[in-house]
Amino acid sequence: MTHQIKNKIESLVKQLNEHNYKYYVLAQPVIEDYDYDMLLKELQQLEENYPEYISPESPTQRVGSDLSEKFKTVEHRVPMLSLSNTYNEEELYDFDRRVRDGLPENNEVEYVAELKIDGASISLTYENGYLKNAVTRGDGTTGEDITVNVKTIRSVPLKLNPNAFEKLGANTIEVRGEIFMEVEAFRKLNHERETNGEKLFANPRNSTAGTLKLLDPKIVTKRPLDIFVYYLLSPDFDFENHSSNLDHLRDLGFKVNKHFRLCKEIKEVVEFCRSAEELRDSLPYEIDGVVIKVNSVKQQKTLGSIAKAPRWAVSYKFKAKQAITVIRDIVWQVGRVGTVTPVANLEPVLLAGSTISRATLHNIDEIYRKDIRVGDTVRIEKGGDVIPKVVSVVEDKRPSNSVKVTPPDNCPVCGEKLFKPEVEVAYYCVNTVCPALVKGSIIHFASRTAMDIEGLGERIIEIFVDKSYLRSYADIYQLDKYSNEIKEMEGFGEKSMDNLLAAIETSKAKPFEKVLFAIGIRYVGSGAAIKLADHFGDIDKLISATEEEIEEVPDIGPSISKSIKLFFSEDKNSEVITRLKSYGLRFKSEKAEPLSDLFNGKKFVLTGTLSGMTREEAKERIMNYGGSVVSSVSARTDYVLAGEKAGSKLEKAKKLGVAIINEEEFNNMTEQ
Ligand code: IVH
Repeated sequence: MTHQIKNKIESLVKQLNEHNYKYYVLAQPVIEDYDYDMLLKELQQLEENYPEYISPESPTQRVGSDLSEKFKTVEHRVPMLSLSNTYNEEELYDFDRRVRDGLPENNEVEYVAELKIDGASISLTYENGYLKNAVTRGDGTTGEDITVNVKTIRSVPLKLNPNAFEKLGANTIEVRGEIFMEVEAFRKLNHERETNGEKLFANPRNSTAGTLKLLDPKIVTKRPLDIFVYYLLSPDFDFENHSSNLDHLRDLGFKVNKHFRLCKEIKEVVEFCRSAEELRDSLPYEIDGVVIKVNSVKQQKTLGSIAKAPRWAVSYKFKAKQAITVIRDIVWQVGRVGTVTPVANLEPVLLAGSTISRATLHNIDEIYRKDIRVGDTVRIEKGGDVIPKVVSVVEDKRPSNSVKVTPPDNCPVCGEKLFKPEVEVAYYCVNTVCPALVKGSIIHFASRTAMDIEGLGERIIEIFVDKSYLRSYADIYQLDKYSNEIKEMEGFGEKSMDNLLAAIETSKAKPFEKVLFAIGIRYVGSGAAIKLADHFGDIDKLISATEEEIEEVPDIGPSISKSIKLFFSEDKNSEVITRLKSYGLRFKSEKAEPLSDLFNGKKFVLTGTLSGMTREEAKERIMNYGGSVVSSVSARTDYVLAGEKAGSKLEKAKKLGVAIINEEEFNNMTEQ
């Protein structure tokens, strides 16, 4: 009986994976979605009853059940280099010359020209045919292990085609490629986010990168990510050439972009670049250039790399797309933290497949520098971001009566006088009860990346603020006072109110770092909030810390520490925090108790390379014993843990007389 079940599970996994491949890699489905879902359901049920038969390549394993805490860092076996750029044909000929100069005389050189996909690069390692891990590029030397998220991408094989893998004769292979989101899918996602009052992604690349860093793979699986792979390597041996590697990759079950060309000479590369630029707008995904690679792996090795880029490959960057239009009006918008930004309303014009009617003008200095005026005919450009910018003014088309732009004296929303810090170019509204600021801070507080209160999106918040149900984000937790009024609102029945109140209640359980991010201290983004929460563990400790103490937290500099001190010095903010505390929000980290108090209150600085553990492991151990790790050495540092090749921090520690310990001593102290 169980034998039969095992066979049945195996057969379902096989069938489903074949359908997956046909649907997601080949884009040629052979069954209806409904039939696929039925097969998947059957498999899920069997696996639930017989978990011992769950195999790693089962399609049910694409979304694990665990939330990843934080991603582990992993060192790349071979660094993930970036590419030098070329911007015109001349530079491509220069590249060809450099390649030839770097190779023995009479060496024939072939190139492979491919599309440069505009997404996030990823390294996939397969061992014995199974996906072992997926690591981001990071700084090129070490990246983050985001396997849980990459597994959700249906076009990433969890298991390679066994025949093709066997033929390669390698145990381990590494495959590199680009994860991306199609433009249409990106637009849809942004549209949904707009409806929910969430911050919009600037472009498909940002939404890809943002999605891959999400800590909940269940959200990732709902986002339409895809992959093209473009590089194959193995620690076991060298392959022969890149073009046959692309064939191998396709045979192994990967999606390889079909637009590439094996070129016998650089002239063909130039032709490919021209046709790729023409193809650009008709593709469903974004590309930002062409990548040109020397085909022979042997020649690649001879050429080697300089600093951060290989000598055997280069990218050809497309020119940014431009259009000409007229500025109808210049308006000043007030952002979440009060920044007043000029925006140009344009005569609608088609640019890179979408109609553009607004462009950011950044700040008044930018307007002065380019002398932009209402009525001007301007050249606009779409760079990497979705919001286009004004590049220059077509001066001979300027109307004779045009006047120079002047910044507003008063806030366009509340009318209060604007403030301009001397060191900045921006103007700010500093009126804490300005509706624009109040709305902005509540929208941020409730957004998905902060307190994640479903149902409390941008539009609803605007209405609630206009009706004075909300005057600050703390009022969210007393919204039930207005239940009756809200239920009467159009499109807002009993059920939505109940759901909203439930979502508000749930948000009280959000961890401290989310709360710290949500309260909207200027410059404290989600990353900084995590580090601060990690270090201080308690808002009261953060409030009483000095600027210097705050700057001891890795990656936290003076602008953040000053901003934190300023935030807590305002009575209005302290009152809001007190209120939020009384509603039960978390202002303390729920950290595991330290194993012992060996390092209680002691500050460590790590420097150099440790041999038996990573820095993260050392940090964890220090924290387990009640200590903390800070980034720079000062007289208040208790210990410097110095590994191999320790540099200036070690010198400083010696000068200041700080205790220096090596890895062995550290191990002895911690009895490891
Ligand atoms: S090859 C040494 N091929 O462009 C080989 N890269 O600036 C380097 N990219 O980080 C990568 N499409 O994320 C290669 N067909 C393609 C690519 C591609 C996009 C990205 C990749 C890399 C960056 C290089």
